[in-house]
Amino acid sequence: MEKKTIRTGIVGSGFAATFHYEAVRRVFGCNVEVIGTHTIDAEQGKAYAQERDIKFFETLDEMLDEVDVIHVCVPPVAHEPISIAGLERDKFVICEKPLTGYFGDGTDEFCGDTFPKQDALDAALESVDRLIAAEKASKGRLLYAENWVYTPAVQKEREILEKTGGQILWIHGEEAHSGSHSKEYAHWKFCGGGVMLGKGCHPLTAALYLKRVEGRVRDGKPIRPKSVTARAHAITRLESFRDEGHIRCDYNDIDDFSLMHVEFEDGTVATLAASDIVVGGIHNWLEICANNHRAICNINPNTTMQTYNPVEENFKDIYVVEKIGTKQGWACTAPDEDWVTGYHQEMEAFYGTIINGGQPESDLLLAADSISTIYSAYVSAERGGAVVDVKNY
Ligand SMILES: NC(=O)c1ccc[n+]([C@@H]2O[C@H](COP(=O)([O-])OP(=O)(O)OC[C@H]3O[C@@H](n4cnc5c(N)ncnc54)[C@H](O)[C@@H]3O)[C@@H](O)[C@H]2O)c1
Repeated sequence: MEKKTIRTGIVGSGFAATFHYEAVRRVFGCNVEVIGTHTIDAEQGKAYAQERDIKFFETLDEMLDEVDVIHVCVPPVAHEPISIAGLERDKFVICEKPLTGYFGDGTDEFCGDTFPKQDALDAALESVDRLIAAEKASKGRLLYAENWVYTPAVQKEREILEKTGGQILWIHGEEAHSGSHSKEYAHWKFCGGGVMLGKGCHPLTAALYLKRVEGRVRDGKPIRPKSVTARAHAITRLESFRDEGHIRCDYNDIDDFSLMHVEFEDGTVATLAASDIVVGGIHNWLEICANNHRAICNINPNTTMQTYNPVEENFKDIYVVEKIGTKQGWACTAPDEDWVTGYHQEMEAFYGTIINGGQPESDLLLAADSISTIYSAYVSAERGGAVVDVKNY
């Protein structure tokens, strides 16, 4: 049977747009024809388009005229308007994490450190509601690009839960490294928060997903988050922090260390750390402690391959592993990092939904629960770690 062809456009032309493009090229369930890109940075967008021999669109609307799907690979502040524009035109929208958030009050004085976090929670949930309404009114749908859901390790855990009916008692996990590459990331007004949102969303959403799977398998309904307790800190902005050049430390008004402790409806728990203060490469892992098994998902680093390099210079043209500070000595070198990170499986699954219908594992409601939990966690952190109820979707 001849494969269907789906026409795609990528919004943004930076880091995420690059790995999205590579991932769609490895989709084999249909032909994905990347028509073009639209970006506000026209110079960057044109270079991205030229390199890939695709079109550069001056406006989003022009691109929407020519595609069935858009990939939203722009900073979080632009996720909602771009996603809604796509849904209003009945397109499928593949939206990067975090789904949405609260990006300040528009004033120059806005400071992420001092404003009342309840405002952020209320505004973020209003944004979620607008996205849910837009999806309901659309023939398209929003596919939430939380790659942790699609990592081979987390999908293997799904299989274990489905085949054994296991009950998860405690999930703990972490996403950490030594600091984001993005300039905007230093400011709450562009990213909607700090590390608790930007990185914490990854292990949190994987944990929410697995409890969802557990409930679906045993009782036909997901187990949802009920409350959260959290702490958030700005370690690199402490007067006592001593910068030795290994950790990014130019943040304006965001947290760079966070802990969320989530209680689910069934009384079980998840404890998720996220930080920008960890050297030695990205540290992404999730451990599942169930009543009938235990699983440790080492997303990055892992020991698929290890290399020892006695001379830094020898590896100058070799990609080793994300955010590693040096190529000298032993390293958990990644032979195919995008695969272990779930980018390919995610796109295969999303394009499967686009051509065949069906329920994606990572959808708008999972993203909504994630946003609701994180902004409730900011309220908790502001109250010194008090328990805050989580609205679930
Ligand atoms: N899943 C992951 O592993 C992962 C990794 C990195 C980034 N991300 C997410 O991807 C998104 C983009 O991050 P990035 O690292 O690619 O940032 P980036 O700064 O590298 O690129 C952002 C791009 O968006 C464009 N842009 C900004 N505002 C726009 C607008 N209103 N309309 C059109 N284009 C606009 C910029 O010109 C730029 O091309 C963020 O939401 C981030 O959280 C996800």
